[in-house]
Amino acid sequence: MNERVQVGIIGLGTMGQGHIKTLLNDVPNCEVVAVCDTDEKRFKEAEGKGLLSEKMQRFSSYGKLIDSDLCKAVVVVTPHPFHPEISIYAFRKGLHVLSDKPIAITVSAADEMIREWKKTSLKFSTMYSMRTTSVNIAIKDFLLQGKLGDIRRVDMVCTKWLRTQRYYDEQTWRGTWKGEGAGLLLNQAPHNLDLLYWWFGPAEAVSAEVSKRFHNIETEDEVTANIRTRSGFPIRFYSTTGEAPGFDRVEIVGSKGTLIRDGRMAKVFTFLELEEEIEKTIYENENTMLDVAF
Ligand SMILES: NC(=O)c1ccc[n+]([C@@H]2O[C@H](COP(=O)([O-])OP(=O)(O)OC[C@H]3O[C@@H](n4cnc5c(N)ncnc54)[C@H](O)[C@@H]3O)[C@@H](O)[C@H]2O)c1
Repeated sequence: MNERVQVGIIGLGTMGQGHIKTLLNDVPNCEVVAVCDTDEKRFKEAEGKGLLSEKMQRFSSYGKLIDSDLCKAVVVVTPHPFHPEISIYAFRKGLHVLSDKPIAITVSAADEMIREWKKTSLKFSTMYSMRTTSVNIAIKDFLLQGKLGDIRRVDMVCTKWLRTQRYYDEQTWRGTWKGEGAGLLLNQAPHNLDLLYWWFGPAEAVSAEVSKRFHNIETEDEVTANIRTRSGFPIRFYSTTGEAPGFDRVEIVGSKGTLIRDGRMAKVFTFLELEEEIEKTIYENENTMLDVAF
């Protein structure tokens, strides 16, 4: 595709600035032509980092940016409660939308957004960037090829999300029910939960305990969940923003072997025996360790 896509960024905070950097450096078919934020300071901040050029029109209201006809697509990077309202407005005006995660803070708002998008032939996506990490893609392929056999259980521990009190204090919407609808479970953990969904499909049942243990915030900063997949095997899930050093580990145990991923590295432990012999030989034979190159 040689055509360039004119993009507007709505929300010029931490992640909005990150999106500009990515679009400027890594996506040659896109050009950022407009930026919007309700806070004047954010323009100065982004300017100070060399992210804004003369060519980028600045707006203090998303409606004006969308109505300007400058953009074919918008990236919505405001706090989550605004994602549906802004995206729906963009769809109705014929703009493609990339809404950062989570797309909404309630299921009904997300449903409405999807309903509005389905009335169009526009592109709509959200940012689950962990799906683009090579190790996670390789695990997906590995699972699709059935190399671990039938999945017996999964254990995921995601504690690499350390957030300091300052992180919550510097943006008053963070860690509040009104401002973001939840804490860890809507802001950081969706990335990991999305991987579980992508790899193993929908959940049949979930029981979970959430708590606020590490920060002075309203919402949860820790979750322990037991997820039963539709295929019937259990997933144990733990995540927090209060632990350091953090880990990003997953253990996938199947009838033919076990895959362990630690950050960007994965190792697969398989058994030498044929599948039907595994049950009787599992404790008798030495297993083989394969390093999988990702
Ligand atoms: N994909 C990822 O890995 C990732 C990482 C971080 C954040 N995010 C998501 O990005 C979003 C923003 O997070 P952040 O950390 O950048 O927040 P932030 O507070 O740093 O930035 C949000 C910006 O939006 C502006 N804003 C608020 N309401 C607005 C409105 N109605 N119109 C225009 N601008 C408005 C604020 O003034 C602020 O500058 C969140 O939904 C978060 O979940 C995604």
